[in-house]
Amino acid sequence: MSNQVLIFDTTLRDGEQCPGASMNTREKLEVARQLARLKVDIIEAGFPIASDGDFEAVKAIATEIHGPRIAGLARCVDKDIDRAAEAVKPAGDRARIHVFLATSAIHRQFKLKMAQDEIIRRAVAGVQRARSYVADVEFSPEDASRTEPEFLAQVTEAVIAAGAKTVNIPDTVGYAVPHEFSALIKYLMEHVPNIGEAVISVHCHNDLGLAVANSLAAVVNGARQVECTINGIGERAGNASLEEIVMALKTRKDAFAGFTTGIETKQIYPASRLVSHLTGMLVQRNKAIVGDNAFAHEAGIHQHGVIAHRETYEIMRAEDVGRSSELTWGKHMGHHAVGKKLAEMGYQLRDDEIKIITEKIKALADKKKSVYDEDVRAIVEGGFTEVPQVWKLDYLSVMTGAIPTASVRLINAGKREPVADAGTGDGPIDAALKTIDRITGIKGRLADYNVASVTSGKDAIGEVSIRVEFGGRCVTGKGSSTDIIEASALAYLNALNRHLDEQARRSAAEKPTL
Ligand code: KIV
Ligand code: ZN
Repeated sequence: MSNQVLIFDTTLRDGEQCPGASMNTREKLEVARQLARLKVDIIEAGFPIASDGDFEAVKAIATEIHGPRIAGLARCVDKDIDRAAEAVKPAGDRARIHVFLATSAIHRQFKLKMAQDEIIRRAVAGVQRARSYVADVEFSPEDASRTEPEFLAQVTEAVIAAGAKTVNIPDTVGYAVPHEFSALIKYLMEHVPNIGEAVISVHCHNDLGLAVANSLAAVVNGARQVECTINGIGERAGNASLEEIVMALKTRKDAFAGFTTGIETKQIYPASRLVSHLTGMLVQRNKAIVGDNAFAHEAGIHQHGVIAHRETYEIMRAEDVGRSSELTWGKHMGHHAVGKKLAEMGYQLRDDEIKIITEKIKALADKKKSVYDEDVRAIVEGGFTEVPQVWKLDYLSVMTGAIPTASVRLINAGKREPVADAGTGDGPIDAALKTIDRITGIKGRLADYNVASVTSGKDAIGEVSIRVEFGGRCVTGKGSSTDIIEASALAYLNALNRHLDEQARRSAAEKPTL
C-alpha cells in the first residue's frame, strides 16, 4: 500500500455549506485556482443539482482548472447523477462523480424509510449510473460511523464490485472518537474482500473538535484519502482542516510512518487568507497553522529561546506554510523586490499588478511606521477580488459628539462629478453608512459586523467584515484601513458594489438570447 495520502478538498462544497460562507462563481473559481496552486489531489467543486449557480460553478471549475481531479456531488438519484456528470464533463478524464446514500439505522428508519437491502440496491445502481459517465466514481455511505460495521462492510463490498474506485467513510455528525474510528477502518480493511480495489477515504466533521484526530487515526489504519477544507470550514462545527492534517503528517513523519501528501505547503497561508476573505469567515487568532498567533511568541522567555535556537519553541517553520515575520516592507522597496517577496508568500502576480501593489505599499508606508506581511496581504487580497466599483469612496469625515455627523463624498463610475452629502446617525459608523445610503439611493440593512486588527501596533490596519441585506438578499463586504470608520465605509461600499454586480449578472442571465 502506498504511503501517499490523497487530499480531497471540499471547501467549495461542504465548506460552502457553512452558514454565511456562500461564494459566487467568480469567487469559487478564485479559490479553485488557489487549490490548484496548493496541489490538492481532488477539488470537490460543488453539488450541481443543488442550484443553477452550483452547476455553473462546478462546470466553470471543470473547464478552467487543470491539475487536480474535479468532483461533483450527487445523491443516488438519476437526475442528480446526470446533472453532476454534465457539470464535471469538461474535466475529461479528471472528472469524478461522488455519490452518497445514508446507511445508518437512524437515517434508514427516519429519513430514508428503506431497509438494508434497498440501501444496497440503490447504492449499487447509483455507482453504476455514475460509472456509465466517468471511470472515477466515489461512494459515501453517509453517517458511516454510526452504521453497523457488518452492514457497512457489505455496502462497501457491493459498491466496489459495482465500480466505485474510492469509498469514503464519513463521520457525518462528528460523533466518532479516534480509537473507535481507526478501529472501524481496520475492520473494513480486514472484512471487505475486495477492499484492495478501492481507495478508502475519510470525511470527518468537527462537532466534538476531533475531526483532525479522527482523520489521522484513520490514516494509520489504512485510509489513503482525507476529505478536508481550508480553515476547517463546513457544516455546523466544520470539517477536518486541511492545513492541520497536512502539517501534522509533514511535521510528525516519525509518528506517521513516513506518510506524505503532494501539498505545496507554502500555499497554505495564502489559501487560508483567500478563503477567509471571500467567505467573510474570520480565522480565530489562535487557530493552528493559520491563526495570527500560530507563530507569534509573546512571552519574553519564549522570544529569548526562539532567538537562541528557533526549535526551542517552534515545531514548524512559518515560511513552510507561506508565512514570514520579517519586517522588510517599506517605501524604499522596488517592485522587483516586492514581486520576489510576494512570490515567497505564495502570490503569483503579473508585473502590472505588482507595480500597483508596490505603489499601495509605499502609500501605506507613508502613513504607518512599520508595514507587515499582513498589511500587504490585506492590500493584495483587496485587489484580487475587486468587483466593478460602481461607487467609490472619495472623502469621509466624521464628527463625533452629541449628534454624530458624517460628511461623505462618493464617486459614481458613470458620472463625472463626485456626489457629496452629510447626515447623522446613532454613532459615527451609523452616520457614515446612512449618508452612503442617501447618496446612492440604495438602502442596506447591516446583518452582521465584525472588526479585526490584521496587524499590530497603534497604527494597525483594521479589517471590517460585514453582511448587508439589500432587498432580502445578503452580501458580504470587506474593507481595511488604519481608520476603523473608513474601513467600515469601505466594507459597506464593497458589499454594495457586490450587490450591484450580482444584480447586473442576474438581469443579464434573465435576458432572453436571440
Ligand atoms: O458529511 C457527510 O456525510 C457528507 C457526505 C456527502 C460525504 O458531506
Ligand atoms: Zn460532510
